[in-house]
Parts: sequence; structure tokens; C-alpha cells
Amino acid sequence: MQINSKKSLHGEVTIPGDKSISHRSIMFGSIASGITEVTNFLEGADCLSTISCFRKMGIEIERDKDSVVIHGKGLHGLSAPSGTLDVGNSGTTTRLISGILAGQSFSSTLNGDASIQSRPMRRIMTPLSLMGADITSINGNDCAPLLINGHPLKGIQYSSPVASAQVKSCVLLAGLYADGKTSVTEPVLSRNHTELMLSAFGANITTSKTTASILPDPELLGQKIAVPGDISSAAYFIAAGLIVPNSEILIKNVGINPTRDGILKVAYAMGANIEKLNVHTVSGEPVCDLLVKTSFLHGTTIEGDIIPTLIDELPVIAVMAAFAEGTTTIRDAAELKVKESNRIDTVTENLKAMGADITPTEDGMIICGGKTLHPATIHSHLDHRIAMSFAVAALACEGETEIMDGECVNISYPGFYEDLEKLSL
Ligand code: S3P
Repeated sequence: MQINSKKSLHGEVTIPGDKSISHRSIMFGSIASGITEVTNFLEGADCLSTISCFRKMGIEIERDKDSVVIHGKGLHGLSAPSGTLDVGNSGTTTRLISGILAGQSFSSTLNGDASIQSRPMRRIMTPLSLMGADITSINGNDCAPLLINGHPLKGIQYSSPVASAQVKSCVLLAGLYADGKTSVTEPVLSRNHTELMLSAFGANITTSKTTASILPDPELLGQKIAVPGDISSAAYFIAAGLIVPNSEILIKNVGINPTRDGILKVAYAMGANIEKLNVHTVSGEPVCDLLVKTSFLHGTTIEGDIIPTLIDELPVIAVMAAFAEGTTTIRDAAELKVKESNRIDTVTENLKAMGADITPTEDGMIICGGKTLHPATIHSHLDHRIAMSFAVAALACEGETEIMDGECVNISYPGFYEDLEKLSL
């Protein structure tokens, strides 16, 4: 994929549905009774993997563009899949579905692409095993493929060593099938879409600070869900609007759940001119439009409790930092190493290729901004967020940048390059 620099960006973009919320709508709709209707569903490859897994377990799911109708069969209505469940590139599918599968009365095998086969699954195997689950990594390396032999589960109080919504959600979902209350405490609060949505479906969930608790065997009932736009996708347009000269972009339909909006807080700390307009609530999630104007950015420090609220945005925040004046330090973000690529390495490699001054660290990176960046050949490493972050950097580098395997953006944002192009007409 070739991206040319732009003199300015103008216009409107409407952000496609949130990936995390789209996954959950399919999963919870499948184990609820009756019909769940989802609008603005994200048609990205990851969410389609979730649909295909539940179809394989006997759930009828109808799709018409971004509308989805799920014919849920209740908590105990899934049937044994005929073959391996293919999770594709999706960590969310793998980890959340494992929580559901652990308490079933059948066995299942999960597998995905090369990236999934190297992502850590010990983080879910440990709590699930404590609940009595029978889950093994078939190759003995704590990664997929996973074999899950459904088993009666017991409720636990789990203190997770990582702030991960995928781990939290996995344990809470297994808790639906346990013999008593299950609680998960995380070191820092991660995204809370599972708590919000499961509760709307009728689950008995309580939360207090960084602990979420669930009672087993609720009656989940099908819902109507309007998926808000994904702030993780909006992030690329926020960054583009800020760093490309003479720009003004209206980004419509952006979910601003406080467990996800760290990029806005960081952008403001860097001096960004972003107005929040039309703030409202959609399916229990706060949503707004963002008016972004080119801004003189300066460096900042990003660390501590804010990290889980912007973990997926750190690659594009690193790009913003390279175009800012002064130093940006990112700490407490070792989780970047276990995403679709090792994002400390892939951000460093590509920002260096463009001429930026960046030093990787054990749990983040230090970027000395203000250098004039130049086009380069970008290696996405098949990581959608790396491809999109560097497409944004390319807009502000004089000349043409080549993004290798750029089509991997389809994982979370089919139509990304087209939406970007529309802003420069
Ligand atoms: C997600 C949680 C995050 C995030 C991922 C989606 C989710 O992962 O990086 O893209 O939908 O729960 P972790 O929970 O592992 O940090």
C-alpha cells in the first residue's frame, strides 16, 4: 500500500463499530435466549472469526452488511463444534471464548494464525485451571492451539497479575458456568465492556474499583445493541488531524468510555485542539463527535493507570510523539510486547526507518520528537495497528511511503485507506 504525504486534511469520517463491543455482542447474544439484534457491527476479520466460531457451535447468525441478528440458544444451548474453532488473528476471540468453552459439556479445539500461535495463553489457563477447567496448550508452549475439555467449574476469587480485559472477561464468562460467585481483581482497571454488556443481558455482575464479581447461571435475554464507533480506530484520524498541517476533521460516532479514552487525555496533555461535540449515550456507552484541528504538540509522560485505557493506541501515540516538540516517555506498557506484534519492536523499527529518534525500553519507549521524518518502507508485520499508525505518519512525511502487507488493516478497519483518502480531496 502506497501512502502519499498530504498538505492538509478536511472533512468528516464516521468511525466503524467498536471491535471489543462487536465481539461481545456475538458471544453474549449466542448464550442468551432469544434474538439479539446488533447494528453498526464491525465487519472486521477478527469479529467475523467470532461469528464463525459460534456458527460452528450451532448458533444461527444472520448478517446484512453491518446489521447482525443472533438466534441465541441460552447459557446451555451451544453444541459441540464439528471441527477446530478458527479464531484467525483474534486474541479477544481466543481468550473470551475459552471462558465460555471451559464450562461446556463438550470438548473443543481452538486455533488461529501464526500470530495467535505465539501469543500467551497461560494468563487464561491459570485462572481457568483454578476453576477446575481442563485446558491445555496442544504444543506445550502455553499458546494456541488449545484443547478445552468442558468440565464443571467452581467459583474463585482471582487476582490477575495483568490488567487485561481479555483475562478478566474470560474468567467472568467461565463464572457464568461455575458453582458459586467468581471475582476478578486486576492491578489497574481495564476496559469494562463485558461488565456493562453482560449486565444489560441480565447477568448478576457487581463492580467495585478494580474488582468485578459475577454470580452463576443467570437467565440471559437477547438484546438490541447499537455498537458505538471504535475509539481505537478514531485514534488514527485524531493523530492525522493533529499532525498534518492546516487540517480540520470531524470524526463522528466515537465511543468515549472512560476505560478507553486515554488517547484523548494524552492528546490534551500534548496540547491538542480537540472539541467533543454531541456527547450522548448509545447502548450504555458514552459516544461523541470529535472536531480535531492541527495542533502544535509537545512531549509528555505516559505511565501508570492510564496505560490500559490506551494500550492499543500507543503505536499511533508514538507517531504523534515523533511529530511533537520535546521528549515523550512511555512506561508501564510491557503488554505492548504481546500484542499482534511486539509493538515496542515494530514501532521502534519503523519510526527509526523514517528518521525518528526513538529508544525502546523494557516497558515502553522514549521518543525525542521534532526531527523531520522521511518516507520509508514500513514493515507492518501483519499488525493492523502498525499499518494504520504508519499510514498516518506517512501523511506528514514529504513523499511516498510504502506499507508492506498493508491490507492487514482489514482485521479491525476494512475501508481504512479509503476513509483516509476521502479527507484529502
Ligand atoms: C481487548 C482488550 C485488550 C486490547 C484488545 C481488545 C478486549 O487486550 O488490546 O485489542 O476486547 O477485551 P488485553 O485485555 O489483553 O490488554
